[in-house]
Amino acid sequence: MQSITSTILNTTLLSPDLFVLDISFPNPVQAGQFMMIKVPDNSKILPRPISIFNYDPKTQRLSLLIRSRGQGTELLSKMSLGQKIDVFGSLGKGFDTNISDKNIILMGGGEGIAPMLLTSELLKKNNDVSVFAGFRHQIEASTLDYFDSDLDIQYTAQDHSENCARGLITDLLDDIDEPDYIYTCGPIPMMKAIYTKVLHKKWNTKVFISMESHMACGVGACVGCTVKDCHNHSIRVCTAGPIFLAEEIFNV
Ligand SMILES: Cc1cc2nc3c(=O)[nH]c(=O)nc-3n(C[C@H](O)[C@H](O)[C@H](O)COP(=O)(O)OP(=O)(O)OC[C@H]3O[C@@H](n4cnc5c(N)ncnc54)[C@H](O)[C@@H]3O)c2cc1C
Ligand code: FES
Repeated sequence: MQSITSTILNTTLLSPDLFVLDISFPNPVQAGQFMMIKVPDNSKILPRPISIFNYDPKTQRLSLLIRSRGQGTELLSKMSLGQKIDVFGSLGKGFDTNISDKNIILMGGGEGIAPMLLTSELLKKNNDVSVFAGFRHQIEASTLDYFDSDLDIQYTAQDHSENCARGLITDLLDDIDEPDYIYTCGPIPMMKAIYTKVLHKKWNTKVFISMESHMACGVGACVGCTVKDCHNHSIRVCTAGPIFLAEEIFNV
C-alpha cells in the first residue's frame, strides 16, 4: 500500500481541542479502520493513527475527528483548506457491518465516538441502532450532530446541562433491554467497565472494542503496538485489530 497525498477540504473546530478534518481520499474504507496521518513537520517522523469518522465514496471525502493531545495533532488542527497532507490507509480490521435484524448499541467515549459515525450509517439500514456517548464536557456533544437524528442517541457529560444525564456512559446501560451487540471505542477503563457491566447483567451480548496503542508503522512491521490478550499472548493492534472481541482482551 502506498501513501497518498490528500488535500485538506475543511477543518471544523467543535471544542477548544476537538476538531473534524476533511480530506480527499480516493479509495474505499471500512468502518472501524484507521488511517496513518503524516504530521506536516519533518521533525515528526512517525505518522499518527486516526480512526475513520466518515467517508463519502461519491465525493471521495474522508472525515477524521481528532483531539489535539500533543504537538502532532495540534499541528493537524492548524491545517487549512487546500493544503496537502500524506496519508496511508485504510488499515486494520474494522467493525462487522454485514449484520441484519439485530439490536446494536454503539458506545463512544470522547473522541472514541469517531468510528461510530460510519458504522451507524452502514448498520442502520438493516438493524435497530442506538448511539450512546460519554463526554467530559457538554460542548463535545456537538459531535453527535453528525449522526442521523432518527437514531436513538443518548449521552452523558460530566459538566451536564438539562439536555443530558450527568454521569458515566455505563449508566446508559441501566434501564435497557439486552442488546445483541455492543461496539465500543474510548479509554480502556471505559471499555472494560462496559464489558464488566454486560457480564454482571448476565447478558449474552457480544461486546467488540476498538483498542488504542502507540503505533509507528500501522502494518505489523515494528511491533510497537503490541498488547497482551487475556491469555497473555502478544498481539499487534494494527493488524489483528484495532477491533477485538472484549473477551479476547479483558480478564474480568
Ligand atoms: C487505531 C487508533 C485510532 C485512533 N483514532 C483516533 C481518533 O479518531 N481521534 C483521535 O483524536 N485520536 C485517535 N487516536 C489517538 C491518536 O493517535 C493520538 O492521540 C495521537 O497519535 C497523538 O499524537 P500527538 O503528536 O498529538 O501527541 P504526542 O505528542 O505523540 O503524545 C501526546 C499525548 O498523547 C498520548 N498518545 C500518543 N499516542 C497515543 C495513542 N495512540 N493512544 C493514546 N494516547 C496516545 C501520549 O502518551 C501523550 O500523553 C487513535 C489511536 C489509535 C491507535
Ligand atoms: S504499529 Fe507497527 S506493528 Fe503495529
